Amino acid sequence: MRTEIPIALAAAVLAFGCGKDSSPTQQAQPAVSAAPPPPPPAASSAAAPAPSAAPSAAAPSKDVVELSIASVGEQMAFDKKKLTVATGATVHLVFKSNSTQNVLMHNWVLVKPGKEAAVAAEGLEKAAKGDYVVPGPDVIAFAPLAKPGATTEVTFTAPAPGKYPYICTFPGHYIMMKGVLTVTP
Ligand code: CU
Repeated sequence: MRTEIPIALAAAVLAFGCGKDSSPTQQAQPAVSAAPPPPPPAASSAAAPAPSAAPSAAAPSKDVVELSIASVGEQMAFDKKKLTVATGATVHLVFKSNSTQNVLMHNWVLVKPGKEAAVAAEGLEKAAKGDYVVPGPDVIAFAPLAKPGATTEVTFTAPAPGKYPYICTFPGHYIMMKGVLTVTP
């Protein structure tokens, strides 16, 4: 017990001695203590460009609402008829197609109320070789067409409070394959 104290004191004395003897060592210490500060600036500068360049990339780090939805077997239906998020929330939605047939593909398209038919028709007319969706004012967000068993996703900001229909715009599906996203205040 007592022998440990002298050793500790000796070590402390040696440490003091080294510090006092070599002034270069003391100069080096400020340099080391100055090193830690750089990380914070680097982190803040990294976060700064993100909001302007890629909002969706910066968002996942905080306050992201995760939603998942899937198609039901070989049916033209979503497994969830209702989804709810708060207005302004950053929403990351993952859509999975549980279909097993290539003739039965699905997507998830959030549209403005009453625009289901128009959006579905436009997608069929102009994007039949794509996702069956044409981005526009009536399309709030959409997870691209998913092949059987595949998953697609989308990140978007929840719109103003209200009820918004989501549909699948694969040909002939929107009438049956639908649900409602409720956006709360
Ligand atoms: Cu579908």
